[in-house]
Amino acid sequence: MCGIVGAVAERNISNILLEGLKRLEYRGYDSAGLTIIQDGELHRERQVGKVQELVNAVNKNPSFFDGRIGIAHTRWATHGEPAQCNAHPHVSGKVAVVHNGIVENYAPLKEEMIEKGYSFSSQTDTEVVAHLIADAYSQTNDLLKAVEQVTPRLHGAFALGIVHVDNPNVLITVRLGSPLVIGVGIGENFIASDQLALLPVTNRFMYLEEGDIALITRDSISVFADGQPVSRPIKELDAKQHNADKGEFKHYMLKEIYEQPDAVARTVEMGVDLKGFKPEFLSRHEDRLNEVRHVQILACGTSYHAGIVAKYWFESLTRLPCSVEIASEFRYRDPVVVDHTLMICISQSGETADTLSALRDIQRRSDAKDINGFLSLALCNVPTSSLVRETDIFLPTLAGVEIGVASTKAFTTQLAALMLLVLKIGRVQSRISDDTFSKMVTELNNLSGQLYSCLKLDQSIAEMSDKFEDKKSTLFLGRGIQFPIALEGALKLKEISYIHAEGYAAGELKHGPLALVDKDMPIVVLAPKDSMLDKLKANMQEVHARHGELFVFAGETTQIESDERQHVIHVPDVYELLAPIVYSVPVQLLSYHVAVMRGTDVDQPRNLAKSVTVE
Ligand code: G6P
Repeated sequence: MCGIVGAVAERNISNILLEGLKRLEYRGYDSAGLTIIQDGELHRERQVGKVQELVNAVNKNPSFFDGRIGIAHTRWATHGEPAQCNAHPHVSGKVAVVHNGIVENYAPLKEEMIEKGYSFSSQTDTEVVAHLIADAYSQTNDLLKAVEQVTPRLHGAFALGIVHVDNPNVLITVRLGSPLVIGVGIGENFIASDQLALLPVTNRFMYLEEGDIALITRDSISVFADGQPVSRPIKELDAKQHNADKGEFKHYMLKEIYEQPDAVARTVEMGVDLKGFKPEFLSRHEDRLNEVRHVQILACGTSYHAGIVAKYWFESLTRLPCSVEIASEFRYRDPVVVDHTLMICISQSGETADTLSALRDIQRRSDAKDINGFLSLALCNVPTSSLVRETDIFLPTLAGVEIGVASTKAFTTQLAALMLLVLKIGRVQSRISDDTFSKMVTELNNLSGQLYSCLKLDQSIAEMSDKFEDKKSTLFLGRGIQFPIALEGALKLKEISYIHAEGYAAGELKHGPLALVDKDMPIVVLAPKDSMLDKLKANMQEVHARHGELFVFAGETTQIESDERQHVIHVPDVYELLAPIVYSVPVQLLSYHVAVMRGTDVDQPRNLAKSVTVE
């Protein structure tokens, strides 16, 4: 989604802005632009395509962009196609604006501004904001006041960066529903949609609250909420945790796949050691977790798949009823939320608009006493995110920063953390026996080693991926607790290789997808040695009988072997309940190698964004 970077300094900031945009590329975008103020004028450059196009354009005339204050943007098209005229910053007279999010009521505001004589050169909702601020400034002659007047008129969720030629030491930012962080420097300050963008210039950050407006100069940051000055703490980041370097790997995605044994081990260690729970793990929340009678999981994309796995775990291990739903559906269907529901919002970024809105709607109902004993929990990789701030309990995934749009280590760490949570609730409510618990603890401690073993399959999987290069469509099959991994495998393949892929519960094969099976259709099967294996083998026979070609990730002792129409890669046998975590790795590697072979942009697949901050 759109990315914002801004800077006010005593040095030339154009390279800081461009480097910041490069660091936001992972969010997904289709055009980029920047504006700096120089000698009483706005200098702007905008390009469709990669940030590198913008860098090339700026480098043609670097002295033109030698400025001390400026704003920059990567745009992911919502209102209006990817085109230079729609790229940000948008300018109205002496005002320039960058915007992340959506102004829902832009149409009537646009009409109003047209009537006032303003003309529009884009189809965006953002241009209306630039005109509104320019218009308010013409009356107030005060940029902060102008922004304060305009903001309440904008409906939707957004973050803004604003500069004005007559205020060459003032950068204004607004945060209302979209992420925005202030980077605190020495004699210089910055804004960005994600702190990652600013790590080359600072490791100190101020996180704004929803509705905050900040006036930033080189040496001061003043934050206002409802017109009143407020103070927001500054936090220092550990740079090691936020290493965003590709290192020796060709793509971030591959690096992140390889980081999984460590990331999962870190996440497991947060909750348990060899003896059982660490005393501090969720201990503050035990009383409230004891009250939970129903679990409702909300998430989008890959995080939703983690939620489906957790449903199997919650119900089989704790017998607590658990529902899982895509946040964008849940929020618009007037759902029933029973008393004593634990709502688990799973989100890598903690900024996904649909997940946040669904949470807020239910939180409002709880505040109005429509639901009793409501408890919310964020399972999130970004401790400073909106989701974490707005929930009662924060359960972190310790994946470290994830750059590849296709989520990998965030997913497996979500699964590890979810298992910890299931065990915690099960033990607090005495629903899990000592034996089961100690077995689970042992298996969790073995998990990292099993993930290492899976990575050794990389070369064989790369060889297998040859067979997918020219395919148009594929199916992923799994049963029971592997069904969500089939969904995740299909999602991974389609998002990065652009091959159509569907994940199916293997038992559903004969209710539809079998009609698609022929000799050209590759079918990926997840076949660990588990309680569903015999049923799954029968489903594989149904494919054989239709001359389908099977690609099977099979447990070592499943006695599933390769033949002419069946290509088998053996995965080390693993404890059934944790097998989804281990079997995630081969499907990630398969998708990765197919995408590399097809020459797609693995880390930034077309049309997709890492952090989906609009609904
Ligand atoms: C986007 C990303 C996915 C992610 C989904 C949900 O679609 O490309 O990788 O799974 O959003 O994001 P979240 O941050 O809420 O987990």
